[in-house]
Amino acid sequence: MQLDGGRRRGFFVTLEGPEGSGKSTQAHRLAGRLTAAGYHCTLTREPGGTLLGEEVRKIILHELSPVPAADAFLFNAARAQLVAEVIEPALARGDVVICDRFADSTLAYQGYGAGQSIEALRALADYAAGDIVPDLTILIDLPVEDGLRRKRDSAEINRFESTFDLAFHRRVRDGFLALAAAEPDRFVVLDGLLSPEQTEVAVADALRPRLAKKQDSRRINAERRTHDLRVDPSEPNGASVRMNK
Ligand code: TYD
Repeated sequence: MQLDGGRRRGFFVTLEGPEGSGKSTQAHRLAGRLTAAGYHCTLTREPGGTLLGEEVRKIILHELSPVPAADAFLFNAARAQLVAEVIEPALARGDVVICDRFADSTLAYQGYGAGQSIEALRALADYAAGDIVPDLTILIDLPVEDGLRRKRDSAEINRFESTFDLAFHRRVRDGFLALAAAEPDRFVVLDGLLSPEQTEVAVADALRPRLAKKQDSRRINAERRTHDLRVDPSEPNGASVRMNK
């Protein structure tokens, strides 16, 4: 099922957090739940999700060390491409779009973390994303020491994890919390120390009423009301998830 009505019919949810918060796992689990509940879903990530974005990802996370201002332009170049190629068309189709990191990461990392002007970064991100703003942002928060410890065992260690110090990552975490406090309607903050299963339920609980509200406001058809995010994700159905990774 796809969401209905209006020029931009879908629902846009982003997952944010400091290193090792478990966002990517949760993004996949949420896509599984939504798909099982009958929603058409697009799952993507930043930086990445397009050919250009994946090239930028390789360069900025693994090959070169741009200065913070160059980082800001490169992350936003990848974002502009992702919005135009993937997010905007998926929302126009009526998909639920799940993005693993989005513009709040630029504010947290290049802004609060690396000291670039928040105002300039907002303008840049607005330029890249146009009027695409998340309907819901899940911030999975945890102490940076715990997150970095988890990341040490993972396959893909990036430049931010390997070269930036603890103080940088603390500023990033505090930055995310400040962004969440400033926009309490858009953000839901979850405890990243919970088990993946507990977090998965909390993510679904955060999404359910907001999705229902958007559906109500757009007069969604009756079929949709028979589905719920509590459905067993293994249950087969006609919905789909598009992966842009
Ligand atoms: P990734 O391996 O996807 O890390 P994670 O699993 O923590 O999301 O790498 C993304 C890295 O890029 C991460 O360290 C955060 C950083 N980043 C920025 O600094 N600015 C941005 O705008 C974005 C989207 C990511």
